[in-house]
Amino acid sequence: MVVTGGADGIGAALCRRFAREGARVIVVADRNGEGARAVAGEIGGEAATVDVSDGAAVAALVADVEARHGGIDLFCSNAGVGGGDPDRRNAASSPDDAWARAWGVNVMAHVYAARAAIPGMQARGGGYLLNTISAAGLLSQIGGAVYSTTKHAAVGFAESLAITHGDQGIKVSILCPQGVDTAMLRQGDAKSQPQNLDGVLSPDEVAESVVQGLAAENFLILPHPVVLTYMQRKAADYDRWLGGMRRLRGKMLGA
Ligand SMILES: NC(=O)c1ccc[n+]([C@@H]2O[C@H](COP(=O)([O-])OP(=O)(O)OC[C@H]3O[C@@H](n4cnc5c(N)ncnc54)[C@H](O)[C@@H]3O)[C@@H](O)[C@H]2O)c1
Repeated sequence: MVVTGGADGIGAALCRRFAREGARVIVVADRNGEGARAVAGEIGGEAATVDVSDGAAVAALVADVEARHGGIDLFCSNAGVGGGDPDRRNAASSPDDAWARAWGVNVMAHVYAARAAIPGMQARGGGYLLNTISAAGLLSQIGGAVYSTTKHAAVGFAESLAITHGDQGIKVSILCPQGVDTAMLRQGDAKSQPQNLDGVLSPDEVAESVVQGLAAENFLILPHPVVLTYMQRKAADYDRWLGGMRRLRGKMLGA
C-alpha cells in the first residue's frame, strides 16, 4: 500500500496502524523525504520522496511500486495543505498562488493517484482508494475559503470515482475529520478554529476510525460522528444552516 503525506500527522498514524494490522509493504510517500524515511524505518516500510501535486512523479511512484511488488491494493491519498483567508473579512482574499497550491495538493493529487493506480486495479479486478479530505469538504471551514473549496472539489471527485469504479471492484472511501492534533492544526490559532469545538482527536484515533471504515467499506469515514448530523441539517434546510454558520463565525472570529 501507499500512504501519501505519510511522514507526519494522520498519514504517519495510518502507516503505523496499517503496520500493526500486518500490511505486507507500506510505502511512506511524502515531499519531506527525511520524515518519510524516519516513519518507514520505524515500521519496516519503504520511503519515497514525492510531491503529490506533480502528476508525473505520482505516476512514476505507482509504476515503481507496481513493478517491484506486483500491485497496490490500497492507495491512501492523504497529503493536504491547510491555510486560512488572509483577510478574514474577505472570503476572496487569498492570492492566486495559494489557490493554485491548494488545488494541486488537495484536489489534483487525488486525480493523479487515481489516474496512476486505477489501470492496475482494473487489471487485477479490484483495489481500494482512500482519500483524506476533511469535514470542511462537506460543511465548509469558517475563515478558510481556499481550504473549503478545494476539499469540496475533492469530495466531488471521490463521488465520481465511487460511481464510475464501484462495479469494477474498486472501493473508495473518504476520510473527513474535524480537528485532529497535527502540525496542520497547530499552524493557526487553535482556539479561533471553529472546527475544533467538537473536540480534537489524536491521529491514532483517526487511524482507528479508518481501519473500521475500510473494514466496513463505508464511503464516508467520519471520526467525529456529529458531522453526519450537521450534514443532515445542511441538507434539510440550507438557509437555516448558513444562518447557523454565520452565527458561529461571528462568535469565533468577530465581525
Ligand atoms: N489536522 C486536522 O485537523 C485535519 C482535519 C481534517 C482533515 N485533515 C487532512 O488530513 C490530511 C493530513 O493532514 P495532517 O493534519 O496529518 O497534516 P500534517 O501537516 O501533519 O501532515 C501532512 C503531510 O503531508 C505532507 N505534504 C504536504 N504537501 C505535500 C505534497 N505536495 N507532496 C507530498 N507530501 C505533502 C507534509 O510534508 C506532511 O508530512 C490533509 O489532507 C488534511 O487536509 C486534517
